Amino acid sequence: MLEIRDLRAGYGKVDVIRGINLHVAPGECVALVGANGAGKSTTLKCICGLNPVRSGQILFNRERIDGMPGHVIVRRGITMCPEGRQVFPEMSVRENLEMGAHTRGDSNQESDLQSMFDLFPVLRQRERQLAGTLSGGEQEMLAIGRALMAKPKLCIFDEPSLGLAPRVVAEVEQTLRQIRAMGTTILLVEQNAAMALRLADRAYVFEAGEVVLEGTGTELQSNPEVSRAYLGY
Ligand SMILES: Nc1ncnc2c1ncn2[C@@H]1O[C@H](COP(=O)(O)OP(=O)(O)OP(=O)(O)O)[C@@H](O)[C@H]1O
Ligand SMILES: [Mg+2]
Repeated sequence: MLEIRDLRAGYGKVDVIRGINLHVAPGECVALVGANGAGKSTTLKCICGLNPVRSGQILFNRERIDGMPGHVIVRRGITMCPEGRQVFPEMSVRENLEMGAHTRGDSNQESDLQSMFDLFPVLRQRERQLAGTLSGGEQEMLAIGRALMAKPKLCIFDEPSLGLAPRVVAEVEQTLRQIRAMGTTILLVEQNAAMALRLADRAYVFEAGEVVLEGTGTELQSNPEVSRAYLGY
């Protein structure tokens, strides 16, 4: 579904992504793990058209999408749930969810909105509340719901558990499992490598802008280097 070939990207004079190759098959959950500054978020932004690609190719369903503007990529079926949630604080919960669907041409939004409220009952209770007044966990659920409202084929998550209490992190993990069970393909970046490797069918380990290891979630969980560097045992 997604294929990245020899991707290079960066800021100013520096290439922070230095020839990355990776792929995601339909229905898979693929994780990117690695230290701070390894280039995970930059890779995600390149996929979504939010950061320029210096060389290499990004293909989605065998078509090149690198160089396309972000809104066109959303229409092709890729959405991102960004790091730090980035909900619209002065808009209500309902309006934030509606924003997620604004690139869609169809009129089934109300029923999809109700399915989001079924998935996240707390958002139904807070439907008219301003998003800026929600707790961190509620904002994360809203950001996830907003991403799903575009009906993506591939949904990208950047650090969904960051800064959340352990109980809420467990809820996020459960939600990602549900989204996957609904048939949405997932690309996940997580500093919580234990959670990422539990969820992922496959994962790539990033180091200084390169992929240094790849394998199934289970393989990487039992890899001594990975456990020492990222799992803390
Ligand atoms: N807008 C920017 N301008 C300049 N340098 C940037 C910018 N965004 C990221 N960088 C640099 O690019 C490198 C890769 O950053 P990136 O955010 O992609 O890493 P990451 O793997 O997502 O890390 P983190 O775990 O901190 O989120 C880092 O050295 C970072 O400082
Ligand atoms: Mg990041």
